Amino acid sequence: MDTTHDFESERPLVVVANRLPIEYDEAEGWHPAPGGLVAALESVLRDREALWIGWSGRFEDPDSDAEQAPPPPTGTGSLKLDEVPLTHAEVEGYYEGCSNGAIWPLYHDAIVTPIYHRTQFQAYRRVNEKFARHVAEVAPPEAVVWVHDYQLQLVPRMLRQMRPDLRIGFFLHIPFPPVEIFSQLPWRRQILEGLLGSDLVGFQTKEAALNFLRLVQKYVALRPGGDRVVVDELSGSRTVRVEAFPIGIRAQDFAELAADPATIERAAQIRADLGDPELILLGVDRLDYTKGIDVRIRAVTELFQDEDLDPDSTVFVQVATPSRENVEEYQRIRDDVELLVSRANGDIGKLGTTPIHYLHQPMRRDELTAMYVAADVMLVTPLRDGMNLVCKEYVACRTEEDGALVLSEFTGAAHQMSDAWLVNPYDIDGVKRSILDAAQSAPQESARRMSALRHGVFEHDVERWASDFLNRLQGSL
Ligand code: ADP
Ligand code: G6P
Repeated sequence: MDTTHDFESERPLVVVANRLPIEYDEAEGWHPAPGGLVAALESVLRDREALWIGWSGRFEDPDSDAEQAPPPPTGTGSLKLDEVPLTHAEVEGYYEGCSNGAIWPLYHDAIVTPIYHRTQFQAYRRVNEKFARHVAEVAPPEAVVWVHDYQLQLVPRMLRQMRPDLRIGFFLHIPFPPVEIFSQLPWRRQILEGLLGSDLVGFQTKEAALNFLRLVQKYVALRPGGDRVVVDELSGSRTVRVEAFPIGIRAQDFAELAADPATIERAAQIRADLGDPELILLGVDRLDYTKGIDVRIRAVTELFQDEDLDPDSTVFVQVATPSRENVEEYQRIRDDVELLVSRANGDIGKLGTTPIHYLHQPMRRDELTAMYVAADVMLVTPLRDGMNLVCKEYVACRTEEDGALVLSEFTGAAHQMSDAWLVNPYDIDGVKRSILDAAQSAPQESARRMSALRHGVFEHDVERWASDFLNRLQGSL
């Protein structure tokens, strides 16, 4: 399967995201930054002429003049990295506070209660301004600037005021909530106006784009016409386009790595290490309360207790990347997940039998791919997720068209992956039934579903996402 969707940027390309593709910490030095945004963007930008502006995860000391060494070059070196340093106080107010304590939970249906602190929004505004100023200083004339995600929603407007020559696009990687939920945000109008500073605002789904258009009408008193909003400014009127661009993965890369003999050998080794079970269930996520990790642990545990799954021949492996560990709700979900795992193993396990294996650690790409190859059923059960790339990666790795995907209806991916076993993660009995159906389905049925899923994942890959967005932004479509 080879689908090529290339994009040409006619103007210099500047990408702005809270994260750079690599992160620094004392223990590990430079390593890949976590999450789907970095995974997707890095895979399209790694060999391109572009400038990526973002934060490295390390802290600026405002009382010291000592220069920190810049981030090392990545890939072929054509992608340049440019760091925006942040102080401890900025990270606390803007990143841990406003972005991940207020906006993240709100945009994910307020699964946990968003906490609104005015001082944290001030920090959010200041850091957005810091990013905007940095971009304004370094972006070449007439550049295309592509701003990413919920941490930087004020940047487009600020940047337009500083540099009207730029073409500005914004893409939101996470859900954009309906009017009833978004309306509680104390800074709703500033955020909407911030985004309207763009020429193009992209969302993962049509529903998210419609939510945005409705909110603009309600709170900014502008009347959208279809997918366009006309904004009146001193310099004249300007049209903002609002559309869905569902993100994908570099499917071909995953398929090639999955078919590599070394990966196949490693997958066999993983199966052997797990005691050669008949059935391997797998979950892979950042450890986030949106991901429904607890949902699937509960469902699998009950299946063991009901004796629908046999702990002597079934293993469930959950890989969870540590994430946002200074934010209280992330400490709570970690405790909840770890309690569920140890309870289940205590109740169901025997000497020499561990029904649930839990790894709280990042994993190298080749090891993760071997896990996807080894797994018979992939469990992706978020309560809400903008897209979810893990399910696409699993599908891309099933080069034999076997295996089965259990997927939450409340992911962006579910809109494109109706051949998965779709589940409502709030309905534990339904999740249990689907896990059993997926595990016990006839090989022809699994192959039919997997073949259709693979077609979609290869067709709508990340190159296509980037080219659709950038071509639209440059007005060439
Ligand atoms: P999110 O962006 O919310 O973390 P996604 O599913 O969209 O969720 O993307 C997650 C990305 O992180 C995927 O590319 C996946 O391979 C990667 N990932 C998830 N868990 C791990 C892990 N433990 N180690 C390494 N990479 C991981
Ligand atoms: C999601 C968000 C990204 C974020 C990533 C990892 O994918 O959409 O913006 O970078 O999670 O989270 P972190 O807080 O570690 O950057």
